[in-house]
Amino acid sequence: MNAQAPDLSAIHEFLLCPTPDAWVQAALAEPELMLVDHANCEKKAAGTALNLMFRYVDNFELLNKMSRLAREELRHFEQVLAIMQKRGIAYPHISASRYAAGLRAEVRSAEPGRLVDTLICGAIIEARSCERFARIAPQLDEELQKFYLSLLKSEARHFRDYLSLAQKATDEDIAPRVQQLLQVERELVEGGDGEFRFHSGVPSRA
Ligand SMILES: [Fe+2]
Ligand SMILES: [Fe+2]
Repeated sequence: MNAQAPDLSAIHEFLLCPTPDAWVQAALAEPELMLVDHANCEKKAAGTALNLMFRYVDNFELLNKMSRLAREELRHFEQVLAIMQKRGIAYPHISASRYAAGLRAEVRSAEPGRLVDTLICGAIIEARSCERFARIAPQLDEELQKFYLSLLKSEARHFRDYLSLAQKATDEDIAPRVQQLLQVERELVEGGDGEFRFHSGVPSRA
């Protein structure tokens, strides 16, 4: 398994904390719910990229990278869907965790801060997804383990793309802003959450 996993040290150095063990236990206790929310995450990731493509039509690098990213996320969505279908897992509507909304609440309203923050949040969400896929993969059945490890490479690239687009969107050094948003992310990940979700904090009802 480890031989297949790419080097994630940049992602581990970037994030301020590892995923708490309690989240891993909750994920293992509710594998079907994890897949349903994972499917939603892939859909939302594609949606975020498409929204950026509608808002910033003058930025050709962003348009290219987001177009490719959206296609990859939709491909991931199809892969999750295929696994759910094969396993007879239903796809109900479920509420979103507070994670993405909590990060989005921090996004500044005036440009270029709005774009910079949205891209930094994208980088953080990709980094956390990657960290969680790698963290949980060794404990899953063979099919899911292979699938989750196969996602690591593209999610790690999405993390790097978002971060470099964020730095290119402003003349200022984004590092202090990245640290501020990472601090918010750490609180969301280490704080308690009512329901288990792919990006939830520590679930109170595991
Ligand atoms: Fe994805
Ligand atoms: Fe991604």
